[in-house]
Amino acid sequence: MWEGEGPVPRSVLEDAIEGVDALLCMLTDPIDEALLDRAPNLRVVSQMAVGVDNIDLEACRRRGIAVGHTPDVLTETVADTAFALLSSIVRRLPEGAKEVRAGEWGPWEIFHMAGGDLHGTVLGIVGMGRIGQAVARRASGFDMEVVYHSPSPKDVAARHLPLEELLELSDHVVICAPLTDSTRGLIGSEELKAMKPTAYLVNVARGPLIDTDALVEALANEEIAGAGLDVTDPEPLPGDHPLLRFENCLVVPHIGSASVRTRNAMAHMAVENLLAFLGGDPMPARHPGGG
Ligand code: DGY
Repeated sequence: MWEGEGPVPRSVLEDAIEGVDALLCMLTDPIDEALLDRAPNLRVVSQMAVGVDNIDLEACRRRGIAVGHTPDVLTETVADTAFALLSSIVRRLPEGAKEVRAGEWGPWEIFHMAGGDLHGTVLGIVGMGRIGQAVARRASGFDMEVVYHSPSPKDVAARHLPLEELLELSDHVVICAPLTDSTRGLIGSEELKAMKPTAYLVNVARGPLIDTDALVEALANEEIAGAGLDVTDPEPLPGDHPLLRFENCLVVPHIGSASVRTRNAMAHMAVENLLAFLGGDPMPARHPGGG
């Protein structure tokens, strides 16, 4: 067990993995071919996250290594975070709080810090899996109309649209899709240009779904109204990154599922996955892409 601060250093993981049967890992640990080569006995990888883009699933599949992850237990918390980001940026809360802390709260003015609305707007959800659907449930409580884009239509009370149509129509867009080869860079310069200049973009999925340079350019050219990002590319985002220059871009450090209750539930599920596999029982959440 790595008890140090931050992610386990690669060299420590490489040495420790030799001879082990099972690995419990975090999304910060790249589980790639080179690492698997050092673990001839490895039979199961259990990740404490729902996203598994740090794991070479194909390599695990070829070697018959089962992969576990933690869906469901974090769905509602991540959807809460998506809504917190969206409402914060649309109502310009970080800008307002900054002004007050700086002692710059001046006289009340009609359009001072006037932002957008949530109610009565169209929310576009990209990726209508468990988290996307939980975001949609919240949106209906906020009197928003929901449209969504996903590879195939889902049995949900919302309109399924091609991505470009969704971007053109939506007042705000929330990204909830997994990171795969086909979603990497899904939101680039053209997609950002397709959005309304009054629209806000939220990402609670994985940073590389959005082309970071294109987002910087879109914010600089006021092609969109702002962004709320729980995830970025790169991650962690350096303190001097251009994205942080924009008052209308709220970035938080990948805390989408970070409620104490949910993180405990994820930890338990990751252990249960691992023990179930080793005990010869079905894993509570075995990823279909693994072995
Ligand atoms: C996940 O589980 O994939 C999140 O990004 C971390 O909670």
